[in-house]
Amino acid sequence: MSRRRQIYEGKAKILYEGPEPGTIIQYFKDDATAFNAEKQGTINGKGVINNRISEHVFARLAHIGIPTHFIRRLNMREQLVRQVEIVPIEVVLRNVAAGSICKRLGLEEGEPLPHTLIEYYYKDDALGDPLIAEEHIACFNWASQEEMHDISSMAIRINDFLCGMFAAIDIRLVDFKLEFGRLFDGDYSRVILADEISPDGCRLWDMKSGEKLDKDRFRRDLGGEEEAYREVARRLGLLNEEDNGPGEVLDLSSHRSRLRGTPPVKK
Ligand code: TMP
Ligand code: ASP
Repeated sequence: MSRRRQIYEGKAKILYEGPEPGTIIQYFKDDATAFNAEKQGTINGKGVINNRISEHVFARLAHIGIPTHFIRRLNMREQLVRQVEIVPIEVVLRNVAAGSICKRLGLEEGEPLPHTLIEYYYKDDALGDPLIAEEHIACFNWASQEEMHDISSMAIRINDFLCGMFAAIDIRLVDFKLEFGRLFDGDYSRVILADEISPDGCRLWDMKSGEKLDKDRFRRDLGGEEEAYREVARRLGLLNEEDNGPGEVLDLSSHRSRLRGTPPVKK
């Protein structure tokens, strides 16, 4: 038996050649990075949870007619997806001011924005993923006008849908990042949703307490990141008894107070 071929290793995932042409296996790691990989660490069990959350979100989006790369989840850490050519643009949707926009424009974190903002960042680690305008995308031909029309209209629909989905489980969708890819059919291609949607690339705040249930716990050294990710999965109804295998899914009840409390003392 030959070993499967690794295509790419990113910060949070490894991509392997899939079983059929045009397919890829996404393996979700526990590795976490922030600030363009200046800060590195591990969130135990994150890969398992993100695989499950992303599967759920992509399946729900497919139901409302958003084309996605997701085919099926293979096991705890892997999913089968369609092979696409990633559009080199990170699409960020913001409903509430947080993170880099606060620094850039002097906004108070938590201020609701007058309306949803859509921002584009050029996907280039060496440049630190700079904020760009649509003019740059056209000028440097990173995506066509037709692709940008499809991307922005899908992004707005995704935001509307996800705001409702999270509100139903008492979570505010503050902001999140999307990536799209080109699916080729002969000489033609269309853009579909790719990558993942998980607490790694979203800001998710508990509606009542405001506690952060996302990667900001890691970025800001708040602690309790494993419990926060599991809390999101639990509220989405994705943690059932048989998932509680050793080392994969923890019982949250004993950790819940940590999510509300001060950062744990560093040992
Ligand atoms: P920002 O406030 O740091 O610009 O992030 C906005 C959103 O995009 C936030 O939910 C986190 C997500 N994001 C990523 O998924 N990857 C990234 O590299 C960055 C910078 C942000
Ligand atoms: N994922 C990005 C990085 O490592 C940034 C972030 O999510 O904060 O560098």
